[in-house]
Amino acid sequence: MAESARANHYDVIVIGGGPIGLSTAYHLSKRGARTLVLEQFTFLNQLGSSAGVSRQFRIPYPQSYMVKLVKQSIPFWDELQSLTPVPLMDKVGTLWFGDPTVHSTEGNVADAEKALEAEHVPYTTLTAAEIERKYHFRNLPSTYTGLFQPDGASIDLKVTARTLLDWNRASPLVAVKDEAPVSNVEWKDGAFEVTTPLGTFVAKKLVLTPGPFANGVARMLGFTIAATYWNMASAFYKRTDPSIQYPTWFVFQNAVGENGNQFYGFPHVDWNYPGYVRVASDFVISPLSSPEQRTLVPNPEEIAFTAQWVRDHMTGLDPTPCFKSTCMVALSKIPTKELIVDFAPDCVPHHEDVVIYATGWAAKFVPLLGRILTDLSLDGTTPFDICHFREGPRFFRPLQQEKRG
Ligand code: BEZ
Repeated sequence: MAESARANHYDVIVIGGGPIGLSTAYHLSKRGARTLVLEQFTFLNQLGSSAGVSRQFRIPYPQSYMVKLVKQSIPFWDELQSLTPVPLMDKVGTLWFGDPTVHSTEGNVADAEKALEAEHVPYTTLTAAEIERKYHFRNLPSTYTGLFQPDGASIDLKVTARTLLDWNRASPLVAVKDEAPVSNVEWKDGAFEVTTPLGTFVAKKLVLTPGPFANGVARMLGFTIAATYWNMASAFYKRTDPSIQYPTWFVFQNAVGENGNQFYGFPHVDWNYPGYVRVASDFVISPLSSPEQRTLVPNPEEIAFTAQWVRDHMTGLDPTPCFKSTCMVALSKIPTKELIVDFAPDCVPHHEDVVIYATGWAAKFVPLLGRILTDLSLDGTTPFDICHFREGPRFFRPLQQEKRG
């Protein structure tokens, strides 16, 4: 084979250069795999599920297997932190509170307490009065309860992605290419051939991590992923009392009419709009059926609803929403909006060589998911318990079947 042709050959091609794709390349190269990362836009872009800067690191989940997985992610965060002097997280704790009868997509406070106990994770329980006194909320219904878990943090997702990108750029085993949208993928002469405007690249294995754009790549391989898309709105609120510091928090409440009614927020951090804190809604008024329907304009009703909650229930903030933005996430159609991590369906040639991370909120799992996707790609299995995420058979559909249906 000519040298120039071999230069386009890799052991693994990762399609999708967001934090999870970059984390996968990091772990693949640690295993000695020659890896290419292809990103359709520019690296660190604001167009997908990694838009913005802050994300929640939290251990509370209603399922003990999720609590366990977050705990297992901690050594991987420590490893990533060792690659940069810039802090990846601001540890302020997680406050989960609200109506104890609400069971939502994020779960339920009492279920989270049980899951934390099952995994021996320390937390404290709180009454509504204690939540108001210790954490600066106000006018909460007296029936609200809560829990505080001290290991929660605000993740600096931008530094996380930048650290992984810099490490991969410096690695002799990794090539990273942005502005490289994939236009075709096919199995040819014993390997996958991946076509982009920058050239055609070849590998025996693929890892797909294109975030909300996963269906575009899946279609090229002959299947679709049943998902819904949330274009989530968020805004920043100016601190009027700089002595007040919020933890990362999430409030569980029953929907109001057609609207969801759950909100989450972040502490004040020096690295994201200093002087302001971020509060967002954990619902969308109109889910999208495809990422193409998305605009970069936040839904004004979602922002107004959130601002009203800030006005009614938070202290030390000016309730005028500033620096509004959106972030688009693909979610599975399971009530718990589980992650999907699986191999491609068997309609894809050599489907066992195509690993996919498809849906869910996964920023807190970035360093661990890179390792899990690497395990699946190189070994076909992983020691981490991902049985709840192997949802391909329910959500991956061969293209012909979709056309017929
Ligand atoms: C999460 O930690 O997974 C999460 C936090 C807020 C909204 C949605 C998801």
